[in-house]
Amino acid sequence: MQDKKEPKKYKNSFLNWIEYRLPIISYLEKEYGDYPMPKNANYFWSFGALLTICLVVMIISGIFLAMYYTPHVDMAFESTERIMRDVSFGWLIRYIHSNGASFFFIVVYIHMIRSLYYGSFKYPRELNWLLGVFIYFIMMATAFLGYTLPWGQMSYWAATVITNLFSAIPFVGEGIKTWLLGDYTVGNATLNRFFALHYVLPFVIFGVVGLHVAAVHVHGSNNPAGIEVKEPEDTVKFYPYMLVKDTLAFCVFGIIISAVIFFGPNLMAEVDNYIPADPMVTPAHIVPNWYLAPFYAILRAVPDKLGGIVLMFAAIAVLFIIPWLDNSKIKSCSFRPLYKWLMILFFVNFFILGYVGMKPATGIYLLLARLGVIYYFGFLLVITPFMHRFEKNIILPNSIHEIYKKKK
Ligand code: HEM
Repeated sequence: MQDKKEPKKYKNSFLNWIEYRLPIISYLEKEYGDYPMPKNANYFWSFGALLTICLVVMIISGIFLAMYYTPHVDMAFESTERIMRDVSFGWLIRYIHSNGASFFFIVVYIHMIRSLYYGSFKYPRELNWLLGVFIYFIMMATAFLGYTLPWGQMSYWAATVITNLFSAIPFVGEGIKTWLLGDYTVGNATLNRFFALHYVLPFVIFGVVGLHVAAVHVHGSNNPAGIEVKEPEDTVKFYPYMLVKDTLAFCVFGIIISAVIFFGPNLMAEVDNYIPADPMVTPAHIVPNWYLAPFYAILRAVPDKLGGIVLMFAAIAVLFIIPWLDNSKIKSCSFRPLYKWLMILFFVNFFILGYVGMKPATGIYLLLARLGVIYYFGFLLVITPFMHRFEKNIILPNSIHEIYKKKK
């Protein structure tokens, strides 16, 4: 029987019915309507929303591809070609998925650069950063697994090279490699488990993103000044202000990604992957996806195989401890005149590592990779912890609101 005292918060009786049983509408209102956004937040604060959209698009397009893809070594390449040629709009779905992966990484790198530059990883947002690095790690694993699925030359050889690395681990290496492959060499068992994992990991990412965004809302968003919100005047409501910004960012992003999908869908693809996998023919250069290439460069910068693996995993692991490496009380690099440039150099260095990771590991490329590795670790482990001792900072404004008063 209906309880006559059910509160009537909304005009719509259906919403009232839901709200009384599951207060999800008031939750959404609080977290995405009235949520206080620092009013100096710039367009870099739209990249989290863009990432969420990318993730959803990747999952949906992936599910459609999986309906037509066959994870068998004799059929994977052909089934991918069939998607491109015979399935209605299959080419579009595949290009959305393959270019979507590249754009997902472009957006995630900008999101990470923003977080590093404005000190969003610092107290009290350390857990937020940790969850982010965890997402990044699963994203890389998912992308690597996806790269193997079309069973082209690069798919096969990238899987061979990467899984071979594990055999360098003393005593247990061979065992781990066989366990990963499900066989002694890359084959059908490997393709099957890679497909299963590639299907499931995006849902793990989705779950972790939920925690990541919930963590952002606990202490509120950081901002370009890196000073905490003190008074209501420092903020604007998420709706409509941030929503309008996010919508514009989404439109621009949509135009750029559409231009690539329709006019240059193979710009970021590896041509060799249009050749069916052949275990008897090794390609001249085995290249990973561009977004994994910085870590591949680090791996090859060391002459010793085991040393390379250790350094590559250390390069990822060190990201987890960044919140405890940076001891400066100033969050935003906008107020750290010297560190700011060293930070920008760190970003440039990362992309140079990416470039050399896609070139043969010889001559100038090898030299650049080695210098890049030194700066990568030097910046994070030496410059970041000690810089604040030598740096004269620019004086911080008292509040976000004060920045606007000064501008007037
Ligand atoms: C699927 C991937 C990801 C999604 C969907 C996602 C989503 C979001 C969203 C919606 C926000 C709030 C809006 C914003 O500040 O832009 C956010 C904030 C944040 N994210 Fe992510 N994120 C992802 C990956 C990452 C990664 C890889 C890192 C770092 C390694 C990271 C670090 C952060 C930090 C530190 C904040 C707080 C920013 C602030 O308050 O200034 N995120 N993320």
